[in-house]
Amino acid sequence: MNDLDSKIQQIAQLIIDSENIIALTGAGMSTESGIPDFRSPGTGLWEKVNPDEFASIHSYVSDTGKNLKFMLDMGMQIFKSKANKGHKSLTKLQKLGKLNGVLTQNIDGLHKRAKTENVIELHGTAHEAICMQCHTIYPITKLIDQVLKSNISPSCDACNGLLKPNAIFFGEPLNSDTLLAAEKMLSNCDLFLILGSSLLVYPVAFYPRKALVNGSKLVIINIQETDMDDQAEVVLHERIGEVMPKIIEIVIEKLH
Ligand SMILES: NC(=O)c1ccc[n+]([C@@H]2O[C@H](COP(=O)([O-])OP(=O)(O)OC[C@H]3O[C@@H](n4cnc5c(N)ncnc54)[C@H](O)[C@@H]3O)[C@@H](O)[C@H]2O)c1
Ligand SMILES: [Zn+2]
Repeated sequence: MNDLDSKIQQIAQLIIDSENIIALTGAGMSTESGIPDFRSPGTGLWEKVNPDEFASIHSYVSDTGKNLKFMLDMGMQIFKSKANKGHKSLTKLQKLGKLNGVLTQNIDGLHKRAKTENVIELHGTAHEAICMQCHTIYPITKLIDQVLKSNISPSCDACNGLLKPNAIFFGEPLNSDTLLAAEKMLSNCDLFLILGSSLLVYPVAFYPRKALVNGSKLVIINIQETDMDDQAEVVLHERIGEVMPKIIEIVIEKLH
């Protein structure tokens, strides 16, 4: 058995032996659906645009038209994308009773599209718009339809406030109820499966440490190294969509 096969076997065995498995996913989960991540060398979004200029709450308010153009381009990529083998593998794991929930940094909604349940979207969702004044939530089409009609300041029906995509921008706090729900999920897990995250963005960067303190084991699947690699039971520097289906196959064999 080569090194990769033996690590895949080890991960499958950890899944079999665990009672409360939580996955943490980042942008690397969706690159195989055609959505670029932020920090992969050569293809990451932040190599091409400056986040302070295009994805911060300050830039959105001061230059809404320019920011919306960039966001619509990114949004179109998201809206036409489909769940990949990685997302589908997590749904299979859940159906086998081996995944309690998912904490995701992604705003693309692909876990829900893959029909995974108990998904916490820490950074919100690109599929909704929110009024910055009264916080009414709309489907994102409410914002897009107005922008396409050349309205560069899409507005709320209820109070005429400025609408923004219901995703967390730089300079905005995360939703406190969402954070509490995430911490609760984390506090009970005994296996924390980290998929496609550089673990550089807070609060997620803290989560592996919190899970360890709570007595959980870590598994990391990420093409690039992360700062938490040496704390994990098993680390795979592989593509999620290539290894997850193999892991699930072995879990199914072991369960029957
Ligand atoms: N799909 C999305 O919704 C999306 C897209 C871009 C960025 N984001 C945002 O990214 C930020 C957080 O950073 P992050 O850690 O999620 O992303 P990140 O770009 O910092 O890290 C992604 C990691 O995934 C790895 N990776 C890329 N493709 C992979 C694959 N096929 N298999 C395994 N690993 C792979 C990369 O090596 C990288 O280390 C958040 O703000 C999040 O909202 C989300
Ligand atoms: Zn409003």
